[in-house]
Amino acid sequence: MAGTQAAGRKRLLVLGAGAGQLGLLEAARERGLFVVAVDRNPAAPGFRFADRRAIISVEDEPQIDRLAAAERVDGLIAPGIDWPVAVAARIAERQVLPHPIDPATAVLATSKLRQRERFAEAGVPHPRHVVCGSLEEAAAAAADFGYPCVVKAPDRQGQKGLVLVRDQSLLDAGFALALGESRSNVVLLEELVPGREVTVNAFSVDGRFTPLTVTDRVRAEPPAFGVALAHVWPSSLAPEEIGAAVEVARAAADAVGVANGPTYTQVVVGEHGAHVVELAARVGGGHDAELCRAVLGVDLNGLALSAALGEPVDGERLRPVRRAGGACTRFLVPAPGTLVEVEGVAEANAVEGIVWVRVYPEPGAVLAALRRGSDRVGAVLAVGSSREEAVARAGRAADCVRFVVDDVPAEAVVQS
Ligand SMILES: Nc1ncnc2c1ncn2[C@@H]1O[C@H](COP(=O)(O)OP(=O)(O)OP(=O)(O)O)[C@@H](O)[C@H]1O
Ligand SMILES: [Mg+2]
Repeated sequence: MAGTQAAGRKRLLVLGAGAGQLGLLEAARERGLFVVAVDRNPAAPGFRFADRRAIISVEDEPQIDRLAAAERVDGLIAPGIDWPVAVAARIAERQVLPHPIDPATAVLATSKLRQRERFAEAGVPHPRHVVCGSLEEAAAAAADFGYPCVVKAPDRQGQKGLVLVRDQSLLDAGFALALGESRSNVVLLEELVPGREVTVNAFSVDGRFTPLTVTDRVRAEPPAFGVALAHVWPSSLAPEEIGAAVEVARAAADAVGVANGPTYTQVVVGEHGAHVVELAARVGGGHDAELCRAVLGVDLNGLALSAALGEPVDGERLRPVRRAGGACTRFLVPAPGTLVEVEGVAEANAVEGIVWVRVYPEPGAVLAALRRGSDRVGAVLAVGSSREEAVARAGRAADCVRFVVDDVPAEAVVQS
């Protein structure tokens, strides 16, 4: 019989096989699912966990639709990546597959603009913002909010079209960059909300929102504004601030209408309380689910897989069992150039408390200076008896890994 190996295995289509999907793909393989992975990059590191690979853009909805039908998949999922969340929801609806969110909810989860409108209606605190179609409108909004302010494409992620505008002289360039990336001919101009940032990773079952990990997001400086350099658990915020972050994340999930499945909510907590920068209806793209499993024993990737396959989720699977006092996912940032080889991974793995070391690119890849999340080249996950111990261990491991590069391309050298 054709495909004996595949017989009886549930079939899952995973949109993306990059760094942000590695953990979920690995979890899918561990569970014995038959995995079809989609990525336009033939060298995507997650392909090694897939039974079948399709070299297609994760945004190519018609092709993915045909693939899902041809592969007779039982479900689709877009982990760690925004726009395809809506692609997956629409295809699931068309093919009458189970799915945690419907297409209307997915639109609210993937359009920063539509999401903000919904937050405003529902009273979810979020940064003040103005939708701008022209530089004049942006200048007026910036004058109102004051500098520095933020401009962003309303329908992108991974810091594509996201700029911190330090002063008026930089608005023109920032506006043009955001507009250039926008899919909709408008940009959002926002106040820069001062404060510290956490990520609330949660999972909902039939409208019941269960917060799992709340991690500090360690942020890079411009020109890599908004890029996470590390996620650290537990958060160093005061318990009442963590509570406030969880409550706004819960309110955001309710407002967007995510009753089932994972949510990943970026929250800035400052003098004026907690503000939701954005909610995503998916697991995080920074190994957030793996950190959750390492510290609480809750298999967030496994839960997301269940949600994508329409399997009932027993509340027991959400019950935390504390496994570590602290954890840190620290991203690896290279010098720009063409990657020759990566040294020191074994030493990094040998550092006490290291759960894993991940290196994303293969030799020959051209590495750019850090501007966006996708420029990160790997990560280490460390646990410890406290957050401080985990941070120190992650730092020691990261220091062991050396990215040997040559012929630095001129365009990769970014002036800050
Ligand atoms: N208005 C704001 N005030 C303060 N910080 C902001 C604001 N907008 C964005 N940021 C910072 O930039 C990061 C990314 O913002 P945002 O989610 O809007 O962009 P993105 O391109 O979707 O990035 P990501 O893929 O990391 O979610 C936030 O986590 C935060 O650190
Ligand atoms: Mg975002």
